[in-house]
Amino acid sequence: MSFKVVEEATPRVNRSELAVPGSNPKLFEKAAAGDADVVFLDLEDSVAPDDKPQARKNVIQAINDIDWRRKALSVRINGLDTHFMYRDVVDVLEQTKGRLDLIMIPKVGTAADVYAVDMLVTQIEAVMGHTKRIGFELIIETALGLNNVETIAAASRRIESLHFGVADFAASTRARTTNIGGANPDYALLTDKGEDGARQVHWGDQWHYAIARMVVVARANGLRPIDGPFGDFSDADGYRAAGRRGGAIGCEGKWAIHPSQVALANEVYSPSAKEVDKARRILAAMKQAQAEGKGAVALDGRLIDIASIRQAEGLVRRADQIAAAG
Ligand code: COA
Ligand code: MG
Repeated sequence: MSFKVVEEATPRVNRSELAVPGSNPKLFEKAAAGDADVVFLDLEDSVAPDDKPQARKNVIQAINDIDWRRKALSVRINGLDTHFMYRDVVDVLEQTKGRLDLIMIPKVGTAADVYAVDMLVTQIEAVMGHTKRIGFELIIETALGLNNVETIAAASRRIESLHFGVADFAASTRARTTNIGGANPDYALLTDKGEDGARQVHWGDQWHYAIARMVVVARANGLRPIDGPFGDFSDADGYRAAGRRGGAIGCEGKWAIHPSQVALANEVYSPSAKEVDKARRILAAMKQAQAEGKGAVALDGRLIDIASIRQAEGLVRRADQIAAAG
């Protein structure tokens, strides 16, 4: 291990994160009653400019009046390039009393963006006497944001998670896409001809680089990497596949833009009973190996070593955290 210790951000179960437009209060109770680990009330891109002031009022009322149970509750503010953003922060924090957990900052481009919001939030918390420190969720969804992600991730102690915003990222990089967060048949290669002369199309994941980079930077800073939306909410299998590929490289959860996606995210991002059982067996086998003075042993015909312990410990810790959040 390096001499530098990576401090973990405030731990939270963050398998599913439901987006709820602040302009549509009809959806709030349903979001509160559902099984999302995190709900974010949106003041940004799902709200039309003329509706912003009313959406802000709706969101403030919802934070104060609705029973959000044990959910983590977040508000997505407008971008720093708009004139809505300062009032989002000021009104929401001055007019709510300690229930809000997180502020989501969209389209973060530089570390100074985070610094500016931190400064504002810190002043308001001091004046209002808020004892609970608001955490930050940052969306990496522009070329500038991904370019600067390393300094962004280290910009404030409030930051808890980085989120990949696929639709805006596509717009910013001028990527060609077909559906939000889904695969694109153009991002593919043809194999050489086989013996029968046939060639196969091998689809790739056009978001791999961006998500993988975000995951590495998030983990190097003790933050949760979270995958963003999947637009086709009638395609459960497509959602599961997108969720699993994010989980395979270290994401801890995924957005849901429709209640039907919440259960899918919770399913994909919960370690299965089989995985947990195996992890516990690895830990037991290694404990015995250590007692016998061995560094590496075999389990089920495969090598396990000290790195296997770390993976197994991480998995068991996550399963315990999910069980405790119940
Ligand atoms: N949160 C809570 N409840 C939601 C919801 C959400 N995000 N989206 C839909 N619902 C509710 C509907 O109100 C409906 O409730 P009902 O059965 O009590 O009437 C039920 O879930 C089924 O909804 P459905 O009719 O299938 O969808 P819709 O046509 O009402 O809404 C969307 C579709 C996409 C407009 C809506 O899901 C939505 O606004 N999603 C969030 C978009 C967003 O926030 N985008 C920004 C981040 S990418
Ligand atoms: Mg966006």
